[in-house]
Amino acid sequence: MSFYKQVTQDGTSTFFNENFQESYHSNIGAYREALEKHVQACKISDLAINKKQIKILDICFGLAYNSFTAIDEAIKANPDIFVDIVALESDAEIILQIPNCSMPLAFHSMQEQFIAVRDYYKGNNYQINLFIGDARKTIKELDSMIFDAIFFDPFSPKTCPELWQEDFIKDVVRTAKQGAFISTYSSSRIAKENFAKANCTIYEGPKCGRRTGGVLAARV
Ligand SMILES: C[S@@+](CC[C@H](N)C(=O)[O-])C[C@H]1O[C@@H](n2cnc3c(N)ncnc32)[C@H](O)[C@@H]1O
Repeated sequence: MSFYKQVTQDGTSTFFNENFQESYHSNIGAYREALEKHVQACKISDLAINKKQIKILDICFGLAYNSFTAIDEAIKANPDIFVDIVALESDAEIILQIPNCSMPLAFHSMQEQFIAVRDYYKGNNYQINLFIGDARKTIKELDSMIFDAIFFDPFSPKTCPELWQEDFIKDVVRTAKQGAFISTYSSSRIAKENFAKANCTIYEGPKCGRRTGGVLAARV
């Protein structure tokens, strides 16, 4: 195994990946990061109100914090919502660590489903279709302009440059509906430039304990 568990400041746990030499979340809190940088940034609660269904693309699914938090917040905003998630992740081993994480109580029933790696998980108000493989390949299997929101959460541009390249980012943006938000935690030049080149408007995302917020892109 090339990763080990860490506890973050909000009491939720994450992992450190020894191959990438990077944590899956910042020390500020795995749950807090998912909530502020991705779910609130993409306005998931607003999207859920008055809708029957929302479709979310979770790129670099990892320990599932972004998806679980989105499902939880969407249901709080609208108990009748159905959250349809497509998740891309290359590492099947990290999926098996999901039940071993200390997560908010509301996530426990979702966590229990991840004792085995499957391509489909389902609850009353949600489904998660998981594509295991390199996201640069699996993204090409998805249709254009179908997602209401996209969580873009690779390791940093320094350690995982391949997922911050222009071609991949263009493929990601192609799957977003017009006006949909694509959240990142990175304020790097490469993130700003490549989302702008992919015809997105660039905003600053929530700061979440940092000096600057990450790139929050919106498909024009
Ligand atoms: C920062 S972590 C994601 C954390 C995750 N979103 C969460 O909420 O727990 C980055 C993830 O990217 C995955 N990854 C790395 N290279 C990848 C690739 N080429 N395609 C898909 N996933 C990749 C890693 O296995 C890791 O799970």
